[in-house]
Amino acid sequence: MSRPDPPNAGAAGASDDAPLRVDELRHGLSGLALGNPLIYFPAVDSTNTYASALARAGAAEGALVVTDHQTAGRGRIGRVWKPLPNQQLILSLLLRPTFPAHYLMMASALAVTEAIEATTPLRVGIKWPNDVLINGRKVCGILIETGDGAAVVGMGLNVNGSLASDPELAARATTLAAEAGAPIPREPLAIALISRLDDLYRQLSTGGPAAQNAVRDRWRARLITLGRRATIHQTPQRTDALEGFAVDVNSDGALLLRLDDGQLLTVTWGDVE
Ligand code: BTN
Repeated sequence: MSRPDPPNAGAAGASDDAPLRVDELRHGLSGLALGNPLIYFPAVDSTNTYASALARAGAAEGALVVTDHQTAGRGRIGRVWKPLPNQQLILSLLLRPTFPAHYLMMASALAVTEAIEATTPLRVGIKWPNDVLINGRKVCGILIETGDGAAVVGMGLNVNGSLASDPELAARATTLAAEAGAPIPREPLAIALISRLDDLYRQLSTGGPAAQNAVRDRWRARLITLGRRATIHQTPQRTDALEGFAVDVNSDGALLLRLDDGQLLTVTWGDVE
């Protein structure tokens, strides 16, 4: 069961660029399998890099690395993740899943969408495979890196502040506060997010195929990509962009793309436009 979301009381009027209240975070995550230990840095190059080093050193799963300022954040497909110091949720979880990694990809995106909807008035969707969007613009990116018998789930969520100073980025990305028209306290959102992922992770670890199908169905129901034309960049199948109609996803979460010549292509990764 998910634990109830913490109240937002006291958040109104709070500064929207104060450092994270780490004690509040620690308190909200106590007792969960994920989020312990919580390792906080005021600034770090990349939380994924740090969590990957923990994995290499043999650390147990559940460790959560959080920062207020990521100086060399990495995105999918070799992209850079732009920092907004003290205004994002920047975190990486070290996991050692016993189920296929694509379910982790689904569970992570699902946990982010459900946490945003539980703690803000906003409604969000998922762009295949795991970008979280509001009104067509991205608020959260997820980078899952595997190796050393571990999976590091890195999340960058634009919570407060604005991207207006970067018009090229602002055309395709946004912050929760910009969409809600008010600052959003980061701690309740982080606690809701990790709590949901903790719950989904336990279901996937213990529930077998029934739990895996249930998570896939919940993820699929939130995909805004399906039933529309899609351009996919940098797939492993071809170097050129692929264009077609996004028909569905298969049981592994791969996108089924109907090309204009009628061919049905199974796309395992890429970036949808
Ligand atoms: C994407 O390209 O959409 C994925 C972005 C992932 C960014 C997060 S921020 C926390 C973690 N650390 C990193 O260096 N990257 C991920």
